[in-house]
Amino acid sequence: MKTNGYNYIKKLQIEIIAIVLFFSLIPLFALGSFLYFQFTQTYTQKVTNNLRTIVDNKKKALDMFFEERVSQLKTIAYTHSYKELSDEDYIRSLLSAVQSSSNSLIDLGIINSDGEQVAYTGHYNLKGVNYKNELWFHEVMFKEVYISDVFMGFRRFPHFIIAVMRKEEGSFWILRATIDSNIFNLLVQSVQIAEKGDAYLLNSENILQTPSRFGKQVMEPSDFPKTPLFTGTTVRENFSEQNRMIVGMSWLEKKNWLLVVSEDPTEAMTPLFRTRTMVILLIALGVMLIVTGAYIVSRSIIRELIRSERQKAALDANLVQSSKMAALGKLAAGVAHELNNPLALIKESAGWLKDLLEEEEPDKIANFKEIEKTVNKIDLHVERAKSVTHRMLGFGRRFEPVSEDTDLNKVAEQTLSFLENEALHRNIAIEKDYLENLPSVKSDSAQIQQVILNITDNAIDAVGKNGTVRMKTGYDPKKEEVFLEISDTGPGIPKEDLDKIFDPFYTTKTSGEGTGLGLSVSYSIIEKLGGRILVDSTRGKGSVFTVCLPVRSEK
Ligand SMILES: Nc1ncnc2c1ncn2[C@@H]1O[C@H](COP(=O)(O)OP(=O)(O)OP(=O)(O)O)[C@@H](O)[C@H]1O
Ligand SMILES: [Mg+2]
Repeated sequence: MKTNGYNYIKKLQIEIIAIVLFFSLIPLFALGSFLYFQFTQTYTQKVTNNLRTIVDNKKKALDMFFEERVSQLKTIAYTHSYKELSDEDYIRSLLSAVQSSSNSLIDLGIINSDGEQVAYTGHYNLKGVNYKNELWFHEVMFKEVYISDVFMGFRRFPHFIIAVMRKEEGSFWILRATIDSNIFNLLVQSVQIAEKGDAYLLNSENILQTPSRFGKQVMEPSDFPKTPLFTGTTVRENFSEQNRMIVGMSWLEKKNWLLVVSEDPTEAMTPLFRTRTMVILLIALGVMLIVTGAYIVSRSIIRELIRSERQKAALDANLVQSSKMAALGKLAAGVAHELNNPLALIKESAGWLKDLLEEEEPDKIANFKEIEKTVNKIDLHVERAKSVTHRMLGFGRRFEPVSEDTDLNKVAEQTLSFLENEALHRNIAIEKDYLENLPSVKSDSAQIQQVILNITDNAIDAVGKNGTVRMKTGYDPKKEEVFLEISDTGPGIPKEDLDKIFDPFYTTKTSGEGTGLGLSVSYSIIEKLGGRILVDSTRGKGSVFTVCLPVRSEK
């Protein structure tokens, strides 16, 4: 009943690994992807909100800028008369006073109701220029405050103006100032955006009012889609095909210009990508750990299983041997018992014959010598037959083993004393290797002696002449067993015969020399004592018989 290659165990191992992997990897992946998506969402939201805040703040700053300039001009207009301001020297000193606190105004001009610039101070010689036909002139008349788009005007460079109107004595006049584009551009672009980010203003016609950091110059039409007026701040993603951008925009309140701030999402999302790589690495590590763990766990389970499987197989083999012995033992005992009576009768009759012969005179009987010899032969062979039946009875008998402190070293030594003469005679060396302080066992020393005798007898028989028989005792603390190893340098036992040597009546010796009962009797004795007999044999090198006995007897 040998199981060659525990195939089903391999399958079981794969099953265990599969189940462990299934139940641990699914939650791991679920958790990993949940965390990742949650993080992506939160992070995108954070980036969007961040941009929204930047746009909001910038819009407020720009509105504030306009409001401050307008109120500055209004203050000048309403605290001075037309006459005072028409004096060029006066407005020159006024401009330098204003510039000392903020240099965003680069010139000042006073324009009368006919559109003529009556006084001017600044870099350009614009005195006497007439603005009557300019669009802004009409608009400032209408609205009282006016902020222009960026234009070239008479100066031939992009600028924009702020103008306020004051009514005085039935007429009106206009105070007009030019805003330094550079300072204004810097104000727009000083937002905290990464390398590829951009910030600019567009008017309602989609014309750039401040330069874009990449490509387009001021006053050029922008590629940015035309956006209708709305309130508040919007953040959108992906406008053009080539470069993905997140864009925040907001219309200014003081002037209908659209503030556009864009950011490269890959730049903004770098920490996100780093996190993603980290998550993937961690999951990979987790998978590796789980796979290794599953393998180790399954391997130790499988090992345990194989071990118990082997034990079971050994037990099964023992059981088969025991039942075989039990059945044959009974038979043998029965036969021996039946044979004993006739043998006793034959022996008695032979004895009677001998007695009768002694009373006769040998000369008177023709074949006296022959008859005497035959009677002796009968006696001898009956004696031999009786020794066989005696052993058979011993084998079948259910002896009750005694339990006494037994020193295996001592028993082995005693047994050897019976055999030493024989060994010497055959030039067989007997080596002894006894373990000192061998734990004693509670067992039946007479029975053990019988077993050692049988096995050593066989060893000497196997060696024949000129060889070695070795006795070794030892202790196995793991199994809590003492053992006696009897090895010989005989011819060994063929593998196919190893199963048979414990069978009753199995012998390779000629009839008269061996009964084939030695080992089977030994087997049943050791079994009853709770121990085991193991054989190991190599053809041509010899055999090793090991008798193991438990230190603590179960019963
Ligand atoms: N040490 C050994 N080396 C080689 N063969 C062995 C050895 N011990 C036993 N055998 C084989 O096992 C057989 C059975 O041994 P067992 O002791 O049961 O019977 P036996 O020795 O033949 O007869 P008996 O012991 O009754 O005189 C032997 O005949 C022999 O073939
Ligand atoms: Mg024998």
